[in-house]
Amino acid sequence: MPRELIAVLDFGGQYSHLITRRIRECEVYSELLPYTISPDELLKLNAKGIVLSGGPASVYDEHAPKCNPKIFQLGVPVLGICYGLQLMVEMLGGKVKATKRHEYGKTPLEIKDHSDLFREIGSKIVSWMSHGDFAETLPQSFETIASSENCATAAIRDPSRHLYGVQFHPEVAHTQNGIQIIRNFVTRISGCSPAWNPQSIIETAVQQIRSEVGQGHVLSAVSGGVDSTTTAVLVQKAVGQRLQCIFVNHGLLRKHEAETILKALKEDLRLNLHYVDASKRFLERLKGVVDPEEKRRIIGEEFIRVFDEESKKLGTFRWLAQGTLYPDVIESAGTGSPASRIKTHHNVGGIPAWSEFKIIEPLKFLYKDEVRKIAKELGLPESIVGTHPFPGPGLGVRIIGEVTDGKLRICREASAIVEDVMKRRRLYDEMWQTFAIVGDDMAVGVVGDQRELGHIVTVRIVKSLDGMTADWARVTEDVLEEISSRITGEVEGVTWVAYAVTSKPPSTIEPC
Ligand code: XMP
Repeated sequence: MPRELIAVLDFGGQYSHLITRRIRECEVYSELLPYTISPDELLKLNAKGIVLSGGPASVYDEHAPKCNPKIFQLGVPVLGICYGLQLMVEMLGGKVKATKRHEYGKTPLEIKDHSDLFREIGSKIVSWMSHGDFAETLPQSFETIASSENCATAAIRDPSRHLYGVQFHPEVAHTQNGIQIIRNFVTRISGCSPAWNPQSIIETAVQQIRSEVGQGHVLSAVSGGVDSTTTAVLVQKAVGQRLQCIFVNHGLLRKHEAETILKALKEDLRLNLHYVDASKRFLERLKGVVDPEEKRRIIGEEFIRVFDEESKKLGTFRWLAQGTLYPDVIESAGTGSPASRIKTHHNVGGIPAWSEFKIIEPLKFLYKDEVRKIAKELGLPESIVGTHPFPGPGLGVRIIGEVTDGKLRICREASAIVEDVMKRRRLYDEMWQTFAIVGDDMAVGVVGDQRELGHIVTVRIVKSLDGMTADWARVTEDVLEEISSRITGEVEGVTWVAYAVTSKPPSTIEPC
């Protein structure tokens, strides 16, 4: 029997992922699934509870997304959130209407019943609302258990059918004690036991890899990042020396990165590692290439070539382990929800469809912060656990225009300074990524007594939960001043430093 699951059906709400994450914080496994999923499939997945997410549509729209109505008859508890509540009401015979006054933001809520969903919750709490519709008439046997000034049906239930709905968003941090409301649904109402934690995830992953691979040999491309290293260590735990790792230096790594990684992977983690310095051939192929997509394509293609050539020298491998994460799966495949795709990544190390490898992806259902917890539990060094994400194509996506030796040096040195300042000031861990970008724009500066034309370096520091959206970090003037004067003082050929103040969306985190 698969582990207990709380299924979140995605109707395209901006907080859908957040619901899944909050449920996992209660140590219960949760997945974001397409709203079109069949009741049979949900039972097969061992769904013990179902959450219907919010979404941008109105249930009375002609093409409003609707789940299979039999989901309400499974006997499995259902919690509808915002659009999810309205959908449940509409599909079960109630009526949903547009409100006269939209409720948006922090809204006081009066709780009328504390027996199940609101157990251990105060009588008056602040909730986060964001809706233009509300349930005017409830379906038969439903009752109201909370209300706000403009919404009498802010929370509803039919306990006999295990159906619950909230008009507000318990998953958003602004809802007071929202996590307790989610915990009540997950453990009290759905009866899941909190057993999904780093130890149990590791145990399950190791067992699964062992039973899949048997006596086979596994190959893995490692970069020293937390995803590929955690993947390798999990596979190593499962198959020992039958795991062969390959670390390709494509010449686009950060300052001292290759040496640091080699030490960590070989000496600290004792991985069976083959190191290839292929910098020359990558940089040769990138000469004269300006287009960002073309650069990514070349780096990806060259990586596969090098990887293929080197692995053939090392033996025959049937299995390939990859550090794919949950947002990668969701971003590239989508959940079939109305939410649009943000960006398709060209993952270096992503093996093309023609490959005959069988793929192992033990982190496929995990978010980055969960991977970090597992990495810690596995005893990975702090330099790997806490390191910021670094894209597969490396500095290649942080150098705008052609990758030249000069720009590579500037990007490398300036990034090292940005990281150093942030680490010394103990700000590094608060950030998702901190780096420098260089392009071909030049500006005049004064070096000594001379006017000199030099490069403009752009500093990018962002906060994010999972890289799917990001906010530029409001670092103090003091920090920017230190970064700027160190870069212009220490990196030859730089005359100006700029700070990127665009969030994602509309921009992306990496400039190329
Ligand atoms: P964007 O630039 O799309 O990046 O906002 C989102 C997150 O993904 C990382 N990124 C990549 N990671 N291969 C990777 O392994 C790539 O090609 C790639 N491009 C972007 C980026 O650093 C950020 O954390």
